[in-house]
Amino acid sequence: MHVGIIGGTGHEGRALAARLASAGFDVLVGSRAIDRAQATVAELHAAHPVLLLRAATNRDVVSSCDVVFLSVAFAGAGEILDAHASSFRAGTLVIDVTVPLAFRDGVPTLLEVAEGSAAAFVRARLPREVRLAAAFKTIPASILGRLDSPLECDEFVCGESPEIVAETIALLSRVPTLRLVDAGGLEAAATLERMTALAVAINKRYRKRSARFRVVGI
Ligand SMILES: NC(=O)c1ccc[n+]([C@@H]2O[C@H](COP(=O)([O-])OP(=O)(O)OC[C@H]3O[C@@H](n4cnc5c(N)ncnc54)[C@H](OP(=O)(O)O)[C@@H]3O)[C@@H](O)[C@H]2O)c1
Repeated sequence: MHVGIIGGTGHEGRALAARLASAGFDVLVGSRAIDRAQATVAELHAAHPVLLLRAATNRDVVSSCDVVFLSVAFAGAGEILDAHASSFRAGTLVIDVTVPLAFRDGVPTLLEVAEGSAAAFVRARLPREVRLAAAFKTIPASILGRLDSPLECDEFVCGESPEIVAETIALLSRVPTLRLVDAGGLEAAATLERMTALAVAINKRYRKRSARFRVVGI
C-alpha cells in the first residue's frame, strides 16, 4: 500500500509523515515543489534514519498512492484539489486533515465555510469515485511529530460511509499509543474542526502545545 501526504512539508504533514513511517508505512512526502519535499525528507531522515520516507510532488502523490492525506493550509486546499482532481485514481482513500482555522486578534477562530466544514469543502472538489474520511484534525503537530513521546490520546475518524470509517480506523490502528474513535458520518467533521479550535485556544491559555482529547466511558 502506498501512502502519501499532500502538504507533507508543513508542520502537520511532516509530523504525520514521521508518525506513519514509524508505524511501518512507506510514505511519500508531497509538496508543490520537489526540492521542498526533498529538504523535508532529508531533515526527517537526519532525525530518524530508518524511516521509509520519499520525496514527491503533490501530483505524484495523487497519481500513485492508495491513501492520500490532505494536510495543506486550508486557504490552499481548493487550488490544490482543483489542480489535481482529475489525477486521483478511482477508489483512492483521501483522509482530510485540514482545519479552516484563522487567528483574529490572537484568538483562534474557525473560518466560515459555505459547505459547512473543511471536509465537506474537500468532498465537493473530489471526483465521485474517490472516497473521503477525515482524521488527525485534533492532534497537534507538536505531539504527533515527537516520536519519542507516546500519543496517549484518542483521534476521531469520520467518513462518508461506515465502511470507509472502518477501513480508515483499521489502517490507522497501526499507529501505537493512539486510540481511534468512530465519530460517524462526514457531518461530524464540523464538530471536530471546532474541537481543534478549542484545543488551540486551551493551548494558548495554558501556554502549552500538547492539548488533545480523550473520550472516557467507551
Ligand atoms: N499544525 C497543527 O498542529 C495541525 C493540527 C491538526 C490539523 N492541522 C491542519 O492541517 C493542515 C496543515 O497544517 P500545517 O500546520 O502543516 O500548515 P502549514 O504548515 O501552514 O502548511 C502545510 C503545507 O501546505 C502547503 N501550502 C501552504 N499554502 C498553500 C497554498 N496556498 N496552496 C497549496 N499548498 C499550500 C505548503 O506546502 P508546499 O509549499 O511544500 O507545497 C505547506 O508546507 C491545516 O489545514 C491545519 O489546519 C494542523
